[in-house]
Amino acid sequence: MRIQDAHSAADLRRIARRRLPRAVFDAVEGGAGDELTLAANRAAFDRLCIRPRAFVEVRDVDLRTRALGEAMAAPFALAPCSFARMCSSDAEPGVARAAARAGVPYVLAGGSGAPPERVAEAAAGPLWYQLYLHPDRGVTEELVDRVEAAGYRVLFLTIDTAVKPHRERDLRNGIDLPLTITPRLALAGLRRPRWARDFLLGTDGSESPLKAATAAYDNFADAVMHIKSVTLEDLAWLRERWRGPLVVKGVLDAAAVEPMLDHGVDGIVVSNHGGRNLDSAPATLDVLPEVVAAAAGRAEVLVDGGIRRGTDIVKALALGARACLVGRPYLHALAAGGERGVDRLLELLRNEVHRTMALAGLPSVDAIDAGVVRPPDRQLKEA
Ligand SMILES: Cc1cc2nc3c(=O)[nH]c(=O)nc-3n(C[C@H](O)[C@H](O)[C@H](O)COP(=O)(O)O)c2cc1C
Repeated sequence: MRIQDAHSAADLRRIARRRLPRAVFDAVEGGAGDELTLAANRAAFDRLCIRPRAFVEVRDVDLRTRALGEAMAAPFALAPCSFARMCSSDAEPGVARAAARAGVPYVLAGGSGAPPERVAEAAAGPLWYQLYLHPDRGVTEELVDRVEAAGYRVLFLTIDTAVKPHRERDLRNGIDLPLTITPRLALAGLRRPRWARDFLLGTDGSESPLKAATAAYDNFADAVMHIKSVTLEDLAWLRERWRGPLVVKGVLDAAAVEPMLDHGVDGIVVSNHGGRNLDSAPATLDVLPEVVAAAAGRAEVLVDGGIRRGTDIVKALALGARACLVGRPYLHALAAGGERGVDRLLELLRNEVHRTMALAGLPSVDAIDAGVVRPPDRQLKEA
């Protein structure tokens, strides 16, 4: 299947599955433990219905919105995902260019294969940065200064990864992240020669084969291998350092909202890390309304986890999200077709949001309110 023949994120995932070695596909796909949370994220979206409004003029549907002070062409952005380089050598600079063309923000991950400055040079569009706290504040401080100097406007602090997560697919497949070339992976690469050539040699010539082969990620070893738990004291410290909008990512606890607001947080991402960290954590869509209620308009609330369709985005907005983040789908798109694959995904998602809004009688993002979706029990009673 070619990129142009992909008609959904699921189609791009199917292409990715054929192109990637199994271990790499699993490293993107997998969740923690029994993958209960991974499945719960999706199930929560599938349970909700969208009730279309009647007699609404939808000739001009306006997808534009603002989140965290940024104008967005559509109410979604690309989530921070480390290890994108294992899907395609286009990786972060390519994703940044595609996001800029689509007019949606890209959150560069702390475990990016490319340094933040190089990604910023590649992108003309809005760039946000995701930070893991290093136990040594000096290291974090230096990184935050670099990110600010490179022009990233919003800082996302991820708080849900205090220890290394237990992802059994990776353990069974005998790989560890960041990806290093083990005999087993080399063997798998022989069966996926196109992927292996791209992974080892790249296409843009900017990365030396040796660097790619050893996956010696800039910032990576320090920033991700020594992640520490985040305390409110850390948050207060970071708030002093970072002048732009500050967002906390990985919140599932409405009781944490008030202290975050006290500490000057501007945004909250309701996230369980795409089911990759604490297995049995609740589905993000299920806790979103509580967090939105606790924030009461004093901070913007974003959500991620399992978002694959325009209908999912409309459901999340109806439950109070300001915008959504999309993770794995753009890694699949990268694997399926590099930067052009990401272009295709963004086009598909945009068209889906547009079509959903038109069919549901929602001419603008502001029109998407709680009345658009109904929980299943009420639907059943009323049916
Ligand atoms: C391969 C991979 C790497 C990720 N790396 C990071 C990361 O470095 N920092 C972070 O905050 N979240 C990371 N995430 C989580 C995403 O930001 C996001 O929360 C999650 O993928 C959303 O769920 P979805 O993949 O179902 O869309 C990663 C996710 C994946 C799949």
